[in-house]
Amino acid sequence: MWCYEGKKSQKPHAVCIPFPSQGHINPMLKLSILLHSKGFHITFVNSEYNHKRLLKSRGPSFLENNFQNFIFETIPDGLPPIDADATQHIPSLCFSTKENCLDPFKELLIKINNNPSDDDVPPVSCIIFYGIMTFALLAAQEIGVPSVSFRTTNGCSFMCNKHLPLLIEKGILPLKDESDITNGYLDTVIDCIPSMKNLRLREFPSQIRTTDLNDKLLNFIMGETEGASKASAIIFHTFDSLEFNVLRDLSLICSPLYTIGPLQLLTDQLPKNSLKFLKANLWKEDEDCVKWLNSKEEKSVVYVNFGSITVLTKTQLMEFAWGLSNSKKNFFWVIRSDAVVGDDSAMLPHEFVQETKERGIISRWCCQEQVLKHSSIGTFLTHCGWNSVMESIGSGVPMICWPFFADQHINCRYACCEWDVGMEVGNNVKRDKVEKIVREMMDGDEGKKVKKKVSEWKKLAHEATGVEGSSSLNLDKLVKDVLLSNY
Ligand code: UDX
Repeated sequence: MWCYEGKKSQKPHAVCIPFPSQGHINPMLKLSILLHSKGFHITFVNSEYNHKRLLKSRGPSFLENNFQNFIFETIPDGLPPIDADATQHIPSLCFSTKENCLDPFKELLIKINNNPSDDDVPPVSCIIFYGIMTFALLAAQEIGVPSVSFRTTNGCSFMCNKHLPLLIEKGILPLKDESDITNGYLDTVIDCIPSMKNLRLREFPSQIRTTDLNDKLLNFIMGETEGASKASAIIFHTFDSLEFNVLRDLSLICSPLYTIGPLQLLTDQLPKNSLKFLKANLWKEDEDCVKWLNSKEEKSVVYVNFGSITVLTKTQLMEFAWGLSNSKKNFFWVIRSDAVVGDDSAMLPHEFVQETKERGIISRWCCQEQVLKHSSIGTFLTHCGWNSVMESIGSGVPMICWPFFADQHINCRYACCEWDVGMEVGNNVKRDKVEKIVREMMDGDEGKKVKKKVSEWKKLAHEATGVEGSSSLNLDKLVKDVLLSNY
């Protein structure tokens, strides 16, 4: 593994700023840990709101740990303060970071660079920002350092975003009428996207489901997608063989791109004295679930987790609950305290709890990576957030897919129809379908095929992250060619 040997007296210094939500903090943290292991000094920038939650979930002593050359800093996200343990409203967060974060971020960079009293903190030499935080690119230009856009998602979803203006030009977007959301219009086949054939409109980011060409969110996505192309390079959290054609075609139309993933397989290989155990959970982890999993037979448990943003209606919660119960399989279900509209898992009826108490447990939050690696897990019922998909493929766990919003529809399409590592529940969730698909995945012939396929992809993911693998080589190349380019 290549590591910066330090010809200069001070280390290179990467400032890493994720979008302030769990699904983006996690991959950015992993990338930062990898760079730290390669000799970088790291400043990791959280929003003040998330920083408070991090301290709450990890305990106040968290930052008293002396992570040498790895500093956490904060900036405000511009949203009014809320006193809750919940994911903030994502569209509001998108607009607010764009409108409010540039100045505090610049002030932070100035503070770091003008701190003569602290010899341990070298001047900033590069900035890595989440793809839709292009204000950070402006700040990087001002201080004259390279900036890299980190798309914590995949090439396919970026390709879709990149071609939204084409769909508008062709008159496919915006929707003509609200009823287009339900009348079959979203099943329109889209064949004009390079290397992505027979897509359906519903697989594009859910933010396109608007009748207004001036819709703020639609324009935010298109603007930030274009803006990110001005960065010195783009990183995708993926690996070459998974998205070969799309990545090849993307490389023709955007900044130099680097595929680095699955990140958890890269950090897993770091030595014990690295920061690989550093986590930034915004919810407190339930550690007891592992004891329960230990008591279960190999590949006998359905793991259910819809990530950090998805919100279910009470009806959806009940359909999943009874589908799981009727399948008669073991299950481990994570239901966040803010995961159900208006209420939480306390609403699961007494009969359900009685019926499943021998074979099911419910938690608020868990260490997902550890759970997916556990031998008792047979399948993962997921919303197809990209981290979840990468973690599942990396662990060789087949998926039952129920996409909720944003990139999750295209992730689901690729998981189920291109990579054959998943089966889709269908948007309008019904208990009978949940029961049937769980049984099929765990015991059926289709399930066998999917399991075989996911083992093959797992092998390829491990190859990509091996010593001579594409992701490992790309990480070294990114460091040498971009991050150290004017160091
Ligand atoms: C969001 C978007 O929804 C997703 O579409 C996008 O691809 C990334 O950002 P989120 O919905 O939270 O993310 O899903 P996901 O991408 O799966 O990220 C969740 C992260 O939290 C994963 O790294 C997962 O391991 C972790 N997690 C989740 C836990 O550690 N414990 C849990 O109980 C749940």
